[in-house]
This record gives sequence, C-alpha cells and structure tokens, in this order.
Amino acid sequence: MIEQGAPAFDALFNRAPAVTADAPGRVNLIGEHTDYNGGFVFPIAAPQRTRIALAPRADAVVRGWSRDVGDEQAWIEFRLGAEARAGTWGDYIAGVTAALREWNIPCGGFDARIESDLPLGGGLSSSASLEVALLRGLRDMFSLDLDDVVLAKIAQRAETGLVGAPVGIMDQMAASLADEHAALFLDTRSLAYERVRLPPATSLIVIHSGVVHRHAGGEYRVRRAECEEAARRLGVRELRDATVGDLERAALPPPIDRRARHVITENDRVVRGLAALKSGDAQQFGALMVASHESMRADFEISTAEIDLLVGLARDADGVYGARLTGGGFGGSIVALADAAKAVDAAARIAAEYSRRVPLHPTVLIP
Ligand code: GLA
Repeated sequence: MIEQGAPAFDALFNRAPAVTADAPGRVNLIGEHTDYNGGFVFPIAAPQRTRIALAPRADAVVRGWSRDVGDEQAWIEFRLGAEARAGTWGDYIAGVTAALREWNIPCGGFDARIESDLPLGGGLSSSASLEVALLRGLRDMFSLDLDDVVLAKIAQRAETGLVGAPVGIMDQMAASLADEHAALFLDTRSLAYERVRLPPATSLIVIHSGVVHRHAGGEYRVRRAECEEAARRLGVRELRDATVGDLERAALPPPIDRRARHVITENDRVVRGLAALKSGDAQQFGALMVASHESMRADFEISTAEIDLLVGLARDADGVYGARLTGGGFGGSIVALADAAKAVDAAARIAAEYSRRVPLHPTVLIP
C-alpha cells in the first residue's frame, strides 16, 4: 500500500524499477526460542508484507530508500565489498549483500525502494520479511541460482553476520516458505517442513501491544547462551536432544534449569500442536498455546506485564481458544486462535480493554 505523498521509485532514482518483489512477516503459532536449539516451530505468514522495487546500477554502489523511517534515516548508501554495521535499517541490506558474497553468489550494485506494512519491533519479523523480499528481488534481477531454502539461510546469515543478532532460522524460513492459509510446521535441524491448515471455522487474532522490542543485543543473546550452557551440562548436542527426564536427573542450577525446561517442553507442545491442527482440534491447540505462554512467562522469562495483560484478556474473551506471546519477547505482539465468527469482535474488545488499563496504543493486525 503506497501512502499518499510517498515518492515512487522513479521520483527517487530518476528511472523506472527493473523488478519488484515482496515477502510476508510471520506469526509464530507455537514453538518459541526452540529454533536455535535445533527444535520445532510453527509459524504462519502474516498478511502484512514488505515490498521492494529495484534497479541495477553500473557501479558497485547500493543506494536504498525506506518509506517507513524518519526523513533523516530514509536514505542509506554503501559500496559492495565495504559493508559495515551502521546501526540503521541499512544493515539488513548490507547484511544480505555481504552474505551473498560469503555464499559466492555474485550481485551487482543496485537502487532500492522499500515499504512495509509490518510494525517495526512488533514481533512479526519485519526484518526477515525485508531480507527475503530483497533476496527475491535480487534473485530475479541478477538471475541468481537460489532456491527458497538457501535464500532463507542467506537471509538468516545477514542477521547473524553483519547485523549481529544471533537469531535462529524460523523467521527467514517463514518469510520464504510460509503462506497465509496454512501454518508451516518446521524442523529447524533438518529444515523438513509440512504445511497444515488451521481448524475449520477458526481465525487468528494478532494484536501488537505497542511495546517495541529489540533483540539485536541484550536478553535474546543471554537466553541463547543459557540454552547452550544447559545443553553442555546435559551432555547433548542441542536442547532438542534432551528430555524432561534428563533435566530432572541433571539438577541444573537456576535459571538454566528453567530455561531448559521451557525449550524441552515447548518442543513437545509444537509436536502435539501439529497433531491437534491435523485433527482440526482448536480446543487442544488453544490449550497448548496457553501452556506455551505460561512457560515463556515463568520459565523463559521473556514476557512483560503488558503482554501478560493482553494474553489474559484474550484468553478470557468469548470465542477464543487460547493465546500467547508470539516472537522473541520483551514486547511485540500476541497471537490467539479464535472462533472465526467471533474473532473481529473479540479482537476489538481485547484491544479496547487493554488501552483502558495501560497508556499504550494496541494495534489489531489480524483479523
Ligand atoms: C526471533 C528470532 C527467531 C526466534 C524467535 C523466538 O524472532 O529471529 O529466530 O528465535 O525470536 O522464537
């Protein structure tokens, strides 16, 4: 959606774009902080997307313009081969071109115009949708030999490399392979996946809390290190390979024990969630979402008071089967599974009650 007054590609670069591409954000239904532990995740594509228009340049320069940041930050520019972290949105672009070079995939200079209807820091992975949209555009424009899985791996490398956020592969796989109509059950170790439809007559509710998260540093990194420490102490390659029994026998010190318990039980919930969706059991899937939230709140400690409030309101709303925080945590959005006939009303009521209780502006992203 082009906002009124936002300049078109031609006005920014004095020529027409050569290609356009886009990619969705993602809503993770269940399976949080399991991806960097070799585990299971269950995202679905968000209806909101990042769109990009590109034209090649004769030199090795990349120039980019984003509609969605302030005027002073709208432009970025760098030279291929001299990519460096700048702490701006341009890092996602430079991260992609640097990652392509690591993969020995040639890409020339280009101009890019970007617009997204995903809220930045809203927990729906606007960053992965930007990386994947860009890679799709570059694949088209430079005829790059890239399948959708390799494309997701390069997008993830942009983030773990130049951007410096030690993320797993869920968001990039979802942006590259998921669609809006079926959730993507993904084994993040083998990258095997399966698409499963939501139960009949159900709909998702997604509400952004108005609390913006950032995980390039801080707590995300700490959680990841805690999980690696737990795996080491348990003597397994990754927490994916541990059981609740292993955990009980090992008697790990806190908070490592709680972190590991979240990941181990969450993996189990994703597998049970797959069975529930396959049999169309919305009640059961909702119960797993509620248990997942409780585990993120008490054991993984990545929720906030605002998110807990929103999840509580959603869980108690008429027609809702279950609700949880979605995404990395410390703010962002919640997801709920609801009766399709009641979802619009329920979302409006949850958001209204939330903004009555806290001085924040929630945004209903779905439905
Ligand atoms: C962020 C990361 C993902 C994943 C989630 C938590 O979105 O980018 O790789 O770890 O957090 O599930």
